[in-house]
Amino acid sequence: MTKLLIRDACILTMNSADEVIRGDVLIDGRTIAAVGPKLSASADVVIDANGKALLPGFVQTHVHLCQTLFRGQADDLALIDWLRRKIWPLEAAHDEETVYCSALLGIGELLRSGTTTILDMETVRHAGSAFRAIEESGIRAQAGKAMMDLGDGVPPALLEKTERSLQESVDLLNRWHGAASGRIEYAFCPRFVVSCSEELLVGVRDLAARYRVNVHTHASENRDEIALVEAERGMRNVVYLDRIGLARPNLILAHSIWLDDEEKRIIRDRGVKVTHCPGSNLKLASGIARVPELLGDGVAVGIGADGAACNNNLDMFQEMRLTAFLQKVRRGPTAMDAKTVLRMATIGGAKVLGMESRIGSIEPGKLADLQLLDLEDYHVYPSYGADPYSRVVYAATRGDVDTVIVDGRIVVRDKTVLSVDRRKVLSESDRAIRSLLSRIG
Ligand code: GUN
Ligand code: FE
Repeated sequence: MTKLLIRDACILTMNSADEVIRGDVLIDGRTIAAVGPKLSASADVVIDANGKALLPGFVQTHVHLCQTLFRGQADDLALIDWLRRKIWPLEAAHDEETVYCSALLGIGELLRSGTTTILDMETVRHAGSAFRAIEESGIRAQAGKAMMDLGDGVPPALLEKTERSLQESVDLLNRWHGAASGRIEYAFCPRFVVSCSEELLVGVRDLAARYRVNVHTHASENRDEIALVEAERGMRNVVYLDRIGLARPNLILAHSIWLDDEEKRIIRDRGVKVTHCPGSNLKLASGIARVPELLGDGVAVGIGADGAACNNNLDMFQEMRLTAFLQKVRRGPTAMDAKTVLRMATIGGAKVLGMESRIGSIEPGKLADLQLLDLEDYHVYPSYGADPYSRVVYAATRGDVDTVIVDGRIVVRDKTVLSVDRRKVLSESDRAIRSLLSRIG
């Protein structure tokens, strides 16, 4: 097994003691073997990290790789119109090749900007192509096909029979859960209550319990969405999820902006997890989630860019900045500090996924998912006396990501993604969206 030594970095460990160490990290195969001020270890590869910050790879707990190809095709709309007029017709026109290309384009952007783990909701069909891209690119993921068996304005190609949706999900789980030496996991992804029959949601609840995997859905993102749920199911969105037994510790809700007190209590008491998507929430004009209140209740909250069709980037640096700034404008300058935000982007995201014993911090025994930031540049200086969390969250940008390691494998070096062919993916993405749009007419 290859031994990799990173020397002389400013290490933001994100461990429970919040240690920041000037020193070395030794990686043995897939795992972090040692962390310390001066390791006297021999290694096959040595990276000199003087002037660089080493931190855990970012964990994005809500993305849609299948929507990367729709960047710039669906701007300036609110959620329900955005879905019915743009996103669903676009997703319905996907084929195996366009999903694969969309996923690789998204993963290239994610790895290049320091994200090493994602929770990915795919589209209804061809999710296998996204799993293939995940496998080949080296990124770590929990992913699943979107499930939709109900709703107005859904194109026939996305509307599934309930049994079929459940069976296809289980088939994908059997094929991909635990693949790539455990780097890939399956998660059931019912799209949102508006798209799902009760029979489907209850089926997901039982299958997720049987296979011990997560359930990921959108919830309470937009006021029209919760009004639709209330009209159809006769109660508020999260109350409904609780009534049918889905509100459990393996449930991960994207957005959770429009919650009343009872729903906040359900999320807290049932151990439900939440993903905050500030860029998406601002651009779709959905609202501002009450993140400090959720964190104060002990709820695990991660951060995600959502998709390129609504964000329009997949850049955790932008999402971290927005996460802090939104709460400051809402509740004052101390409402959200840089360290809290970086925690959400790393170990907090790992907790959302139930992976905190394996990833999210730089500690011996954990998997080697790391990023090295080159901070020798105008916009992150002076370094003297500067809080390292502040430098990373408020000043650094994705252009500073120098090296990225996932599962002990170097996937970005000298700011270049090694596991994805950029020129090829860029040109094929133009070809793919062109053919996809021609199918819509
Ligand atoms: N709600 C249902 N589907 C979607 C989606 O694809 N993106 C977002 N942001 N919200 C949704
Ligand atoms: Fe989403």
